[in-house]
Amino acid sequence: IAILGVGAVIAYFMGNISPAILIGRLYGVDIKSEGSGNAGTTNVLRVLGKKAAAATLLIDVLKGVFAVLLGKLAAAYFLEPKLGPYMVMVCGLAVFCGHIWPMAFGFKGGKGVATAFGVLMAVSPLLGLAELAIVVVVVAVSRFVSLGSVVAAVAFPLIVNYYDPTYLGWGLLMALIVLYKHNVNISRLVKGEESKISFKK
Ligand code: G3P
Repeated sequence: IAILGVGAVIAYFMGNISPAILIGRLYGVDIKSEGSGNAGTTNVLRVLGKKAAAATLLIDVLKGVFAVLLGKLAAAYFLEPKLGPYMVMVCGLAVFCGHIWPMAFGFKGGKGVATAFGVLMAVSPLLGLAELAIVVVVVAVSRFVSLGSVVAAVAFPLIVNYYDPTYLGWGLLMALIVLYKHNVNISRLVKGEESKISFKK
């Protein structure tokens, strides 16, 4: 059980690595006070452009992937096989929370979408790709990244439940957190005031 706690702490601090904030600093910009103020790919694209956004996305996804893979590895060494999924859930939730509420940056991070996607890729790449396809289609059609994120959040528990019903409660919790973090986006979408994605920068 201690190993679950150690995994949670390591994954949480992996989640604290915020490329949006760090890359912003390289550009001399405080991403938390520009654009939507969110430390995530969409806002980096809005404020700093495509290259910085691609790097942000990659790092946010990879930290989710690595945190869960590390958890899987540790579970294989130290835990009974039936505890494996719990290690995945603990590490996945911890890296996701570390990204959204990073202690290293005053508990103000991103909205969790890219990191949750990385977590899902590490649980099962096929499911990750299914989730990615949903986001790509919704964003391509609507041009609202936030709408893609909201639809992906709703799909997340259904997808993980299909994979293994053990993950349902965990998936619901992750989805609720993403939806909660998008409350401002959702009200902007409803009012027709949400900003559309643009790759001009
Ligand atoms: O995942 C974040 C995205 O859905 C919205 O980002 O910066 O427009 O609030 P933003």
